[in-house]
Amino acid sequence: MTTAGTTAGTTTLITNIGSLVTNDPSAGDGPLGLLKNAAVVIEGERIAWVGPAAGAPAADTAYDADGQAVIPGFVDSHSHLVFAGDRTEEFNARMSGRPYSAGGIRTTVAATRAATDAELEANLTRYLREALRQGTTTFETKSGYGLTVEDEARALRIASAHTDEVTYLGAHIVPPDYADDPAAYVALVTGDMLDACAPHARWIDVFCEKGAFDGDQTRTILTAGKAKGLHPRIHANQLSYGPGVQLAVELDAASADHCTHLTDEDVDALANSQTVATLLPGAEFSTRAEWPNARRLLDAGATVALSTDCNPGSSFTSSVPFCIALAVRDMGMTPDEAVWSATAGGAAALRRDDIGRMSPGAYADLALLDAPSHVHLAYRPGVPLVSAVWRRGVREA
Ligand code: NIG
Ligand code: FE
Repeated sequence: MTTAGTTAGTTTLITNIGSLVTNDPSAGDGPLGLLKNAAVVIEGERIAWVGPAAGAPAADTAYDADGQAVIPGFVDSHSHLVFAGDRTEEFNARMSGRPYSAGGIRTTVAATRAATDAELEANLTRYLREALRQGTTTFETKSGYGLTVEDEARALRIASAHTDEVTYLGAHIVPPDYADDPAAYVALVTGDMLDACAPHARWIDVFCEKGAFDGDQTRTILTAGKAKGLHPRIHANQLSYGPGVQLAVELDAASADHCTHLTDEDVDALANSQTVATLLPGAEFSTRAEWPNARRLLDAGATVALSTDCNPGSSFTSSVPFCIALAVRDMGMTPDEAVWSATAGGAAALRRDDIGRMSPGAYADLALLDAPSHVHLAYRPGVPLVSAVWRRGVREA
């Protein structure tokens, strides 16, 4: 692997790009702002110039993309990467017919509590490297496998050394130690645990589901988080119909995640809100569940993001390209829509406008594909097409 970096003030020209997704409709064709025979100039950690290769300005160094496609780096706006152990046995049992249930989370909670900081850090770094090699340049990640004041705060501290997009998910499930008194656990999540976690997080999330937290508990927890300056997002309507999506819209959550079981009212509410519907097809794949209906959401006018949900229970994949292929094959998305959702859609789900697009001023986060166009991400499923990755202007893979 060769590595060429840029530092502030130095410029790099990436030229001879066969097909460039900018996600800037003013820069090229369609919603993807597609440009053929394009070039990009990086200055420091930002994009300085985008346009036809023939008109590109000079730069300090040049990289010939050799006709390959270039896309903005993927924005994986939903993952659970601070954990220990795995759940191979549970997956095996599921593939023999046992249904998925939220209860499996307890297995990972026990392993995570028993792990050292160094073990959690090594595990996190491993999955981040894996994701980066597959084109992910921004990721959100959550606590939720500690479920004590100390273990939740530790997870967020470890995560925040690697990303600004850190989510407090003390309300993942009621842990076994509080099984007889869920109200006391909600009091902890909104009290001492929130105090310890808020300084390390940007977001607060609740698994709003039968067997996890109901609508009233979800509202209480998210409202307490908002009062501490955290912004809400919700695991909503994953395993069954429920109040999660409506609550997400009511509380102006940045994202309602999963959205597998939606009523017409849920779809309308999302379409008429700033709340992004984040779809996580790795979870339906790995739990053999019904697919979320992306087409229905898009046709109604909702903003859709696509993410991995990478976690050891319901979706043990770090691959956004895999999720794109599933969304196109099984959820009614076109390849253009799926690529937009995995880049600009993820940025919208994190309320960011400095990532997920290739236009001047945005972070220089981009992936080269060993393919003539972004459509190959769905057309060639399972093939490792990402051939190089720049993050914050530095070649990292
Ligand atoms: O997003 N739904 C809740 N949380 C995770 C699953 C976590 C687990 O099974 O460990 C999810 O699918
Ligand atoms: Fe999740």
